Amino acid sequence: MALQATSLLPSAISVCKEGKPNACSLMDTSLYGVSVYNVKAEFKPYPITSQEFKRKISVKPIVVQTVTTTPEINQAAPEAKKTLRKGNVIITGASSGLGLATAKALAETEKWHIIMACRNFLKAERAAKSAGIAKENYTIMHLELASLDSVRQFVDNFHRSGRPLDVLVCNAAVYLPTAKEPTFTAEGFELSVGTNHLGHFLLSRLLLDDMNKSDYPSKRLVIVGSITGNTNTLAGNVPPKANLGDLRGLAGGLNAINGSPMIDGGDFDGAKAYKDSKVCNMLTMQEFHRRYHEETGITFASLYPGCIATTGLFREHVPLFRLLFPPFQKYITKGYVSEEEAGKRLAQVVSEPSLTKSGVYWSWNKNSASFENQLSQEASDAEKARKVWEISEKLVGLA
Ligand SMILES: NC(=O)c1ccc[n+]([C@@H]2O[C@H](COP(=O)([O-])OP(=O)(O)OC[C@H]3O[C@@H](n4cnc5c(N)ncnc54)[C@H](OP(=O)(O)O)[C@@H]3O)[C@@H](O)[C@H]2O)c1
Repeated sequence: MALQATSLLPSAISVCKEGKPNACSLMDTSLYGVSVYNVKAEFKPYPITSQEFKRKISVKPIVVQTVTTTPEINQAAPEAKKTLRKGNVIITGASSGLGLATAKALAETEKWHIIMACRNFLKAERAAKSAGIAKENYTIMHLELASLDSVRQFVDNFHRSGRPLDVLVCNAAVYLPTAKEPTFTAEGFELSVGTNHLGHFLLSRLLLDDMNKSDYPSKRLVIVGSITGNTNTLAGNVPPKANLGDLRGLAGGLNAINGSPMIDGGDFDGAKAYKDSKVCNMLTMQEFHRRYHEETGITFASLYPGCIATTGLFREHVPLFRLLFPPFQKYITKGYVSEEEAGKRLAQVVSEPSLTKSGVYWSWNKNSASFENQLSQEASDAEKARKVWEISEKLVGLA
C-alpha cells in the first residue's frame, strides 16, 4: 500500500511509516536548482563556498552574541532541600522545529530551565515568545555550530552563567539536498558534517564533565538521529544512501583540498552528507555510552522523532517538494508527525524516568509508544564508532 502510494509521487518522495523501521525519508534528488543558503549576515562567511575556501580567504572573527535573559541560578533554598530543583537542559537549534517544540514541552512542565543554544538570537527570542515559553523558563545563549571557536565560546559563557548542567540535547542540523557544490565551516569542514557532527562532538565532549558533576538524579546526553541514516529501513535505502566507507575523507579533514568533502572520500552530495552526519551522530552516542556510561552514570541516547515534514529542515528544498511533502506524509503514508508531537517525544527522552536506559536509539509506534529501535549495521558498528571518535577528536583539536 505504502509502496504503491510512493509510486504516485515523484521518485524523490518516499514513504514515511512512523514508528516502523522503514519509516520516513527526506527527499533526495538531483532534479533541482541551485541551492541558496540562508546565511545570517552577522556570521558570514559561514558557510563558505568551495571556491572561496580554495582561494583561502581568511576567516573573519566571529561576533559573539550572548544574551542571557534569565540569569537566575537554580539553587534549592535551604528549606526546600527535599524539593527537586529545576533541571537545566541545553538544546541546540531551539529556534525552530523540533528543538523549539521540545523547549516548549519541557517549559510547560515548569520543571525545566531551557538554555536555547542558537545562532540567531533574535529569531530564538521571537520563537520562544511565539511558542509562549515563560521568560523565567529559558535563557538564550549564542552558539554557531559551524565554528569550533564559537562552540568553545559557548561553553565558556555557559560556565560563567554558573548553572549546573543536567541534560544536553544535540538537536541542531542543516540539510542541503540541492547544493551543487560543498560549502564549509569556519575551520574548512564540509558544512553538514561539520555542523551536525563535529560541532556537536566538540560541544558534548566539552560539557561532559559538567553533566558528570551535576547532582540531578538523571543526567542525559541526547543526540538526535534519523532514520535516513539507517540503511536497514526503506527510507534509508533511498539513494544516495549513507555510507562512511573507510573514513578517508573524514581523516583528510573534509575540506576538498587534501581529498574529498565527503566522509567516504567520494564526490560531494549534499543529501548524502546529511545522512552520513546522522550516522556519525548515532555512532557518537554509542561510543559515549561505551566510554562513559559506567563511570559517570550519564544516560546516552539517540532517537528518530518521526517524520516532521513541516520543519525548517527542508528549507533548502525546491518549492514543489516543500508543497507536496507534508500532505503526502499526512494523507497518503500517514507517517506525518506534528512538531508538537515530535517535541513531546524528545522531551520524554530528556526527562521520562522510564527512558533512562543508556546506549538506546528510541523510536515511537503508531500509538506514540516509545520502543528501542534497531540501528543499521553501519550505524551500530563499534569499530567504526571508535574510528570516527578518534578522527573527530583530532579534527576538533582534542587530540
Ligand atoms: N524534520 C524531520 O522530519 C526530521 C526527521 C528526523 C530527524 N530530524 C532531526 O531533527 C533535528 C531538528 O531538525 P528540524 O526538523 O527541527 O529542523 P529545523 O526546524 O531546521 O531546526 C534546525 C535548527 O538547527 C539550527 N541550526 C542550523 N545550523 C546551525 C548552526 N550552524 N549553528 C547553530 N544552530 C544551527 C537552526 O537554526 P536557525 O533557526 O538559525 O536556522 C534550527 O534552530 C535535526 O537533528 C534533524 O536531523 C528531523
